Amino acid sequence: MDQIVALCKRRGLIYPASDIYGGLNGFWDYGPLGIQLKNNIRDDWWRRMVECPPIGPDGEPLTLVGLDSAIIQHPEAWVASGHVAGFNDPMVDCRKCKNRFRADQLADYECPNKPSKRAGEHDQCDLTEPREFNLMFESHAGAIKDESSKVYLRPETAQGIFLNYKNILDTMRVKVPFGVAQIGKAFRNEVTPRNFIFRSREFEQMEMEWFCHEDDSQQWFEFWKQERMQWWLSLGVSSDDLTFRDHDEDELAHYSRACVDIEYRYPFTAPGYGELEGIAHRGCFDLTQHQEHARQKLEYFDQQRNSTYLPNVIEPASGLSRGVLVLICDAYTVDESRPSKLYMKFHPRLAPIKAAIFPLVARDGMPEAAKKLFLELRQRYAVQIDVKQNIGKRYARMDEAGTPYCFTIDGETLTDQTVTVRDRDTLAQERIGIDRVASFLAEKIGA
Ligand code: GAP
Repeated sequence: MDQIVALCKRRGLIYPASDIYGGLNGFWDYGPLGIQLKNNIRDDWWRRMVECPPIGPDGEPLTLVGLDSAIIQHPEAWVASGHVAGFNDPMVDCRKCKNRFRADQLADYECPNKPSKRAGEHDQCDLTEPREFNLMFESHAGAIKDESSKVYLRPETAQGIFLNYKNILDTMRVKVPFGVAQIGKAFRNEVTPRNFIFRSREFEQMEMEWFCHEDDSQQWFEFWKQERMQWWLSLGVSSDDLTFRDHDEDELAHYSRACVDIEYRYPFTAPGYGELEGIAHRGCFDLTQHQEHARQKLEYFDQQRNSTYLPNVIEPASGLSRGVLVLICDAYTVDESRPSKLYMKFHPRLAPIKAAIFPLVARDGMPEAAKKLFLELRQRYAVQIDVKQNIGKRYARMDEAGTPYCFTIDGETLTDQTVTVRDRDTLAQERIGIDRVASFLAEKIGA
């Protein structure tokens, strides 16, 4: 993990937030390549959910719409959702080492005074009784800072969808079953943020609420479980490192009837797995709560069934930030034969830089030919031109950035209009016509 974190900083993927001030625990900044990678995952999810939703069990495309709701919502919404009363983690402090731990995860922490022991196990540990700690960040809306102006930064994007369920029903001519998808920031004042961006205090989620009739809800739960796994596999994540895990009764969130996690084998959990996405059966908990607290009818009249009801909800909730971590861990490939000793094997569709263009030397018309190609390709792809350093160092940089293709302009280019294309994974080099480069990329990456 240390090597991955170092690479992320060295190659501009992820930096500690407020780095020049020594960082801020639980907060991270995405650098130039990190934001490209994150946006590529985000766009793929949005395309699959909203623009081109999957085909349903009846052979028809599913109905899904998008949303971008406010981060701060009416504070009563968080009372209704159960977060004010129940979004807590049990926390303990050690009176000796002054460190703080999640009481329910003591086995996961090393004792800072004796790392061979777990927190609480060393005979010098002196832990306080567990106390409940609410994870929501609080702020105040308006000039007066008192209880009446208290607001919360959303701890999940899901509630914004429930608050807009009626608006969407009234304006979008959707019929149950349908889904609403949203991507955005969420904030949790985690007791112990750790494992790089795995558990942070500010992160992004990609959540979808699927509204359906209770009788069909188990079938939809199964459908979304399979569909979500297929999507992670389509990003090139290794199937050996992904698994499902059903939640036991006693770990279900207050709103859940059932939940299955898609887990990934992270370097810090191996040989075990850690959560990447949860697919929850939320029943009609949220709509019931908001109907009562907002005193608004949220029932749906189903013409086909000729009945009125509150729909059930199936929720695939994934972390975009955690997805970035999974793709980085999965792409990290050691190869001692290369000058860089490693390369990032991103799926070409998701790679932050799709192609690099190198003039072999900075003279004899090569930079000009490279620039012409660069200006053409950048219309459609995130490409870079690099004219400095020897070619080996330029390849090494692109291997660390995970750039799938490098095109080199050399002396031959000027006579026969061909370039060398180097494949990141196989290191194979072939010559293709310079006029074929755009179609080559289209074939390998897509438009
Ligand atoms: N609406 C349901 C919900 O929020 P969750 O399991 O608490 O469920 C969904 O969160 C996903 O959000 C998780 O599977 C994880 O990928 C991501 N996530 C949750 N807490 C996180 C944190 N502190 N840092 C980074 N990602 C987090």
